[in-house]
Amino acid sequence: MNILHIDSSISGEASSSRKITAAVVRHLIARHPGAEVIYRDLAADALPHLTLADLADHALVDEFLAADTVVIGAPMYNFTVPTHLKAWLDRLAIAGRTFQYGANGPSGLAGGRKVIVASTRGGFYGPDSPIASYELQDRYLATFFGFIGITDITFLHAEGLALGPEQRDRALKGALEAAERLAV
Ligand SMILES: Cc1cc2nc3c(=O)[nH]c(=O)nc-3n(C[C@H](O)[C@H](O)[C@H](O)COP(=O)(O)O)c2cc1C
Repeated sequence: MNILHIDSSISGEASSSRKITAAVVRHLIARHPGAEVIYRDLAADALPHLTLADLADHALVDEFLAADTVVIGAPMYNFTVPTHLKAWLDRLAIAGRTFQYGANGPSGLAGGRKVIVASTRGGFYGPDSPIASYELQDRYLATFFGFIGITDITFLHAEGLALGPEQRDRALKGALEAAERLAV
């Protein structure tokens, strides 16, 4: 099994999404001894904004397509994903590699792999929240990966992380336990 492990939080050791992705990868390795892991820290080694030349360089899309399971740390920054993560996603949407347009519109070419997202947030954006419509983080990731043909996407949530230590600990514990229960 090939695992691609992506982190994008700027918060280093204090990051909850980094703790959750690490737990997911530990769990995957326990379930699949001998799994190969490639790690990419998009905060420490940030990609620049996309250029036309980048669209001709397929190194990152090759790395992505070589993975059976992709584990992504995706904190909410200003209602959506960090620009660090967006810069990486911009390099995966390559016509002819991950999607194509045909007579019936677009179709995804990157199906057959699993994506697991550690989705962390300071507040609450569930369906009952008055600001549910501000949630452009999971919605964006589900839309993006759906567009390139990936339907097997799992979100592990830790919400309300900015609302005091009790809520933070409870949310993080819940997500770490969910990582242990993943059927992978
Ligand atoms: C630059 C920045 C922007 C943020 N924007 C939001 C936001 O729009 N909504 C929210 O609920 N939390 C927001 N937060 C809080 C983070 O989502 C929260 O701290 C979460 O724990 C980040 O994940 P991490 O612990 O892996 O860094 C923001 C944090 C930072 C640093």
